[in-house]
Amino acid sequence: ILDEIKASLRDMQQNEALQELKVKYLGKKGEITQMMKQMGSLSPEERPAFGQKINALRKKAEEAIEEKRLEISEKQKNARLAAEKIDVTLPGRKNRIGGLHPLTKVYWEIRSIFVHMGFTVVEGPEIELDKFNFEMLNIPKDHPARDAQDTFYVTDDIVLRTHTSPVQARTMLETEPPIRMICPGRVYRQDDVDATHSPVFNQVEGLVIDKGVTFADLKGTINTFLRRFYGEQTKTKFRPGFFPFTEPSAEVDATCSICGGKGCPACKGAGMIEVLGCGMVNPRVLINCGLDPEVYSGFAFGLGLDRLTNIKYGITDIRLLYENDVRFIEQFK
Ligand code: PHE
Repeated sequence: ILDEIKASLRDMQQNEALQELKVKYLGKKGEITQMMKQMGSLSPEERPAFGQKINALRKKAEEAIEEKRLEISEKQKNARLAAEKIDVTLPGRKNRIGGLHPLTKVYWEIRSIFVHMGFTVVEGPEIELDKFNFEMLNIPKDHPARDAQDTFYVTDDIVLRTHTSPVQARTMLETEPPIRMICPGRVYRQDDVDATHSPVFNQVEGLVIDKGVTFADLKGTINTFLRRFYGEQTKTKFRPGFFPFTEPSAEVDATCSICGGKGCPACKGAGMIEVLGCGMVNPRVLINCGLDPEVYSGFAFGLGLDRLTNIKYGITDIRLLYENDVRFIEQFK
């Protein structure tokens, strides 16, 4: 019987099979138990020897089964440990963290500089009345500037704003000076898409209105801004310009931040690059917006956020800012 048990145990892998075997030999109706019961039919002389043999057999069988049980549980434990094994030398899995769009980063930087100079931030509608986008800003219906700005008309008197200047007109109408504000936002012009044109782009314009504001204040504010934005070594140049809503007007060049003024393809070798337009608010605009030009004066400026962003990062194609290719966006974390 013991040999039989050992033979069955040899290839056994499962606890359940082991239990069955235990019942088969050692259970209440098991073979060994049955044999012990047979003792009664033996003569008293035969009993002790038989009893000893049976007990020895029983003990050996129990030991063999117990040994197997330990072996199986050991094997199971090892298998479980192998399955749960962690290779602590594997490199960790990185979380992919989102980044800010380059336009957002540059806008936040510009906003921060102006907010530190005491400007507030005002937003306005992108679908705008002709009245605010043009009329109040001294651009009447037949004015060539309307063609120059290639307007998207929604109806005869509603347009997609071509600049953020209408927000300035709205602010002058609603707010008692002193006014110091910037108005950021999307603007629209009917341009075909190419490396430097997009029918939608972003501006940050600014307006200051108070008693006794002069061109010196305009220059000081713009120079301070450009030096904080591009670095203290930045030189600026104010060239005469024209805008219907400012008089006099200027276009401002700043040291090219890509080549540091030495001349490169971005500035066409000039070392300077045009960065914004500005001027003293035209008295007519003040009157249109309910302000007395004898009492108040002010200046306005407007910059192209896309242009400044491209110059800042050396991006040569405006389309990259709008296609949202992750491989491009990812570089600005
Ligand atoms: N509104 C002008 C434009 O879009 C920019 C500008 C604003 C110029 C304020 C001067 C003063 O071209």
